[in-house]
Amino acid sequence: MNGALAMNQASGLKQMLAALTGRPAREVIAGHQADGLLTAVPIPRRLCRPIAVAGGKGGVGKSTVAVNLGVALASAGHEVMLLDADTGLANVDVMLGLAPSRHLGHMLDGACTLQELLLPAACGLQVVPAGSGARRLAQLDHGELAAIIHAFDELARPPEYLLVDTAAGLADNVTMFAAAAAEVILVVCDEPASLTDAYGLAKVLSRDFGVRRLRMVANMTRNEGDARLLHQKLARVSDRFLEVVIEFSGWVPHDERLRQAIRRQAAVVELWPGSPSARAFKKLADTVDTWGEPGRAGLDRISFFGGRTSAGAEGPG
Ligand SMILES: Nc1ncnc2c1ncn2[C@@H]1O[C@H](COP(=O)(O)OP(=O)(O)O)[C@@H](O)[C@H]1O
Ligand SMILES: [Mg+2]
Repeated sequence: MNGALAMNQASGLKQMLAALTGRPAREVIAGHQADGLLTAVPIPRRLCRPIAVAGGKGGVGKSTVAVNLGVALASAGHEVMLLDADTGLANVDVMLGLAPSRHLGHMLDGACTLQELLLPAACGLQVVPAGSGARRLAQLDHGELAAIIHAFDELARPPEYLLVDTAAGLADNVTMFAAAAAEVILVVCDEPASLTDAYGLAKVLSRDFGVRRLRMVANMTRNEGDARLLHQKLARVSDRFLEVVIEFSGWVPHDERLRQAIRRQAAVVELWPGSPSARAFKKLADTVDTWGEPGRAGLDRISFFGGRTSAGAEGPG
């Protein structure tokens, strides 16, 4: 077989697979190569991975992590949505320099659909904005929070990743969104109040919502050693008193470039991709991408995508 011809056929097949599945070909090609040709290529179902970014305390970097992880995943070729679930004091649109004309309140009032709220941002990330200073959104009841979660069921094309930037505290708008996600990232920084608030959130999520695993990301630490020490402090107490495993999932250094990017209303991952924090967010995105198929959320819980972890089967798989 002519080697160049086989290469052309293989790359054509890769492009077709990527177009069919919406995922980079390297992820969908699991077949074998015979005589330089790809054969028996299974096309997996699309995964929808809802990931809440939480932490309990304000100012620890939840929105920063949600925004930059979102842009890092999107720039790696994934379809990513970012829901600003800090209803009432929204930050995501400001951090990304967006100017939304409508927000979740309009959707709840029936003035628009979730699809119509989606705003394109850096690297193809799609943002669902919440309103800032909108009292309507500051006091959402249980039914309205559930309606926001259920609205994602109606999307024509669910994203691969749905990141949910949650508010500070332990109110329903934090716990419901976190419990509705398949994964929860706990952002923690090296301050006693951050550790105690993260522990408090872990306690509520495990005791009241049956969450059994959390993923900790240390923010604003000096090095990986400090980040792991921080994780040990938290895990030591949670292992002893709570029925939840807190895994170490990565760390982000304190980085002046990150602050400058925030002031410029852009993601550091886009603006200064070589900076220490941008590299950390890209590494975190790679880690998140190894998490694989998410565990099914509890059947008795309200869950994003109805607890389904895949949708739109596009072939055998
Ligand atoms: N890794 C970091 N390096 C430097 N500054 C950071 C970092 N992470 C967060 N910050 C600063 O902390 C502020 C608060 O972060 P933010 O993401 O808004 O916190 P939260 O959403 O938890 O309230 C940001 O405006 C930014 O100035
Ligand atoms: Mg925030």
